[in-house]
Amino acid sequence: MCARVLLSLAVFPFAVLCFFVSTAAALPWDYDMYRQKSLEANEVARAPVEGTVPLGYKPFTMTLEEAEAGLKNPVSFTKNSVWRGQRLWNANCWTCHGKTGAGEGPVGSQIGAPDLTNDFYRQKSDGRVFGVIHYGLRAMPRHGFRFSDAEQWDIVNYLRFLQGKDVEGMERPVKEE
Ligand code: HEC
Repeated sequence: MCARVLLSLAVFPFAVLCFFVSTAAALPWDYDMYRQKSLEANEVARAPVEGTVPLGYKPFTMTLEEAEAGLKNPVSFTKNSVWRGQRLWNANCWTCHGKTGAGEGPVGSQIGAPDLTNDFYRQKSDGRVFGVIHYGLRAMPRHGFRFSDAEQWDIVNYLRFLQGKDVEGMERPVKEE
């Protein structure tokens, strides 16, 4: 009998705690799962050892300003390149910049994605676009680690297509109202 009373006395505080779910959730064991060694979203798996370069990786050391002024697009503007760029655009840029590049993607207006089809952005150099994709710009996240150089140039070519440069055999997407 005495043991039972003791047991219920011991269990009671826990029962009360569990009733107030938010208090129970603040107990130290509750965020063990959160504080694990797994990677956070967008975290790169492991920093390379200082002074080394992974096999097959070409470091990009230009600043955005240097890329804007001096980096030339080595990938010719062909249907194949534009087609590859379209696939990458629709998977990576569409959410903000929209299918047409006018900023009509689902998060475009919330994050302030500009209309990339206007003259202001049409006049930016290919090197600048490459640099912006690589490093990101203010609210725009960086994408350099996702693509090879060639893929980034395909995206640059696709943006030129969206901005009005024609290529045979490709239809420019129209804005859905
Ligand atoms: C999370 C939303 C988001 C995504 C995804 C995104 N962008 Fe952006 N982008 C922005 C915002 C916001 C700006 C405006 C940045 C500023 O000027 O402050 C921008 C600006 C730009 C600019 C103009 C920069 C300049 O000043 O010259 C280019 C070009 C561009 N984005 C291309 C891309 C491409 C290509 C992709 C896909 C690889 C992409 N963006 C993905 C949000 C995004």
